[in-house]
Amino acid sequence: MTEITRIATQPIAGQKPGTSGLRKKTRVFMQAGYLENFVQAIWDGIGGIRGRVLVVGGDGRFFNDRAIQTILKMAAASGAAKVIVGQNGFLSTPAASNLIRVRGADGGVILSASHNPGGPDEDFGIKYNMANGGPAPESVTAAIFAATEAIGHYDILEAGDLDLSAIGTSRLGAMEVEIVDPVTDYATLMEKLFDFPAIKALLAGGFRLRFDAMHAITGPYAVEILERRLGAAPGSVVNAVPSPDFGGGHPDPNPVWAKPLMDEMYGESAPDFGAASDGDGDRNMIVGRGAYVTPSDSLAVLAANAHLAPGYAGGLKGVARSMPTSGAVDRVAAGMGLPCFATPTGWKFFGNLLDAGMATLCGEESAGTGSDHVREKDGLWAVLLWLNILAVTGKSVAQVMEDHWAEFGRTYYSRHDYEAIDSETANRLVDDLRAELGGLMGWTHEGLVIEEAEDFAYTDPVDGSVSAHQGLQIRFRGGARVVLRLSGTGTEGATLRVYLERFDDNDFGQDPQAALAPVIAATEALAGIGKRTGRSGPDVIT
Ligand code: G6P
Ligand code: ZN
Repeated sequence: MTEITRIATQPIAGQKPGTSGLRKKTRVFMQAGYLENFVQAIWDGIGGIRGRVLVVGGDGRFFNDRAIQTILKMAAASGAAKVIVGQNGFLSTPAASNLIRVRGADGGVILSASHNPGGPDEDFGIKYNMANGGPAPESVTAAIFAATEAIGHYDILEAGDLDLSAIGTSRLGAMEVEIVDPVTDYATLMEKLFDFPAIKALLAGGFRLRFDAMHAITGPYAVEILERRLGAAPGSVVNAVPSPDFGGGHPDPNPVWAKPLMDEMYGESAPDFGAASDGDGDRNMIVGRGAYVTPSDSLAVLAANAHLAPGYAGGLKGVARSMPTSGAVDRVAAGMGLPCFATPTGWKFFGNLLDAGMATLCGEESAGTGSDHVREKDGLWAVLLWLNILAVTGKSVAQVMEDHWAEFGRTYYSRHDYEAIDSETANRLVDDLRAELGGLMGWTHEGLVIEEAEDFAYTDPVDGSVSAHQGLQIRFRGGARVVLRLSGTGTEGATLRVYLERFDDNDFGQDPQAALAPVIAATEALAGIGKRTGRSGPDVIT
């Protein structure tokens, strides 16, 4: 029986997409009508899906499979011509972006809460990507949100569940459903971009790597690419089987959550190269033997060396970073004569620059790097570009970093997160500091002098759209900076992010927290974080 049913519903408060789609506790999404309302609002917000082709997939977290069945039935009910789904409902975020592009689909629905834990009591998320493969811009997410506030019904096909494990084509009502291998197209793209023979030779020569998939979506991708196609020793990819609750872990590739990998890389028999990716495969962490690379430094190194990979041999058109990301890449751009853009936090802000051919490489301090090959950040892409650079130069990660700093100087960088603080306290802290910005010029604290203080607003150079209040940016004389903003991806209370940096052009061996101590002290004097939140320090330091 395949009958379209129209179900009466009412707006549900709070279905407002944040930095990266709608993220809530899984149980919130599991409430009757919650997912359905939002999916219908996507269809309504983008002007309907009649006759359109969509890609659907997710990171395999708890509720992924149920949500996909609902989305398929709702796509069929609203007249989509075809939906392309990753086998078992799996697609990494970058692979979904690629699939939208190579299949010329009209858009896609990606189910993920990225690096947030998964499970019935953890997080779930959903976002819409456009025909260019990138996250919907603010104009579209605003239309979707408006649709959630105006909704009166949703349409769904009354039908049995589809078997998502069987590759091939079937029908759901009048709609075609094609189930594809989630890895193949993506792996083919990687082979085109990178010097696989050089990386193969490196690995065959005894270079050892460890990739921690953190029980998340990149497992199957990494096994296929690193072990099968490039010849890394079997077992080089660990935690390779995606599980609905990510093995009970927190699939965020940073020194805190990827501690076992860090311990190994700083241990006695460390491999040459370590890397990890997050829940949905768009983030990355790079660590050499005894040498952790900050995401901001990684972006700078990749920008300086991308030409060593076949996909970028012609050079870069430009680079872009999110505003809170360190200025390390700006120094590379200046040295190489490349345009360099600073956008608000959120990968969606890179889309126009990539589409317009104004930037080739982009990156964020939040462990995302990517290029114009897709319209999402891409964890394995970053790993492969690093391996390509190491293979061609013959250097270790530590050597690459030392040489990079010697050439461009070192930007010491750290992010301090204060998690789950009371929303009102957090808002007041930011509002109060914002109100003071105008009078801060010349303010000094132990030798640091403020030379610029702004409430960052971005005017997109391609479409002229303006995004205001994207973070408070305070620059000190001599190249130090602090940025304060509230996270747009949390699901509980507010998370205050404090981004700290300081440039040094001759002393490269300091501990970042020590190097940044004056900036940290100045920030406390300015914003009174400890005093206002009652916290003695940040919850997470990256
Ligand atoms: C997601 C987005 C990124 C963003 C990150 C942190 O991963 O895709 O673009 O940098 O979240 O966002 P937040 O608002 O929590 O700082
Ligand atoms: Zn992610």
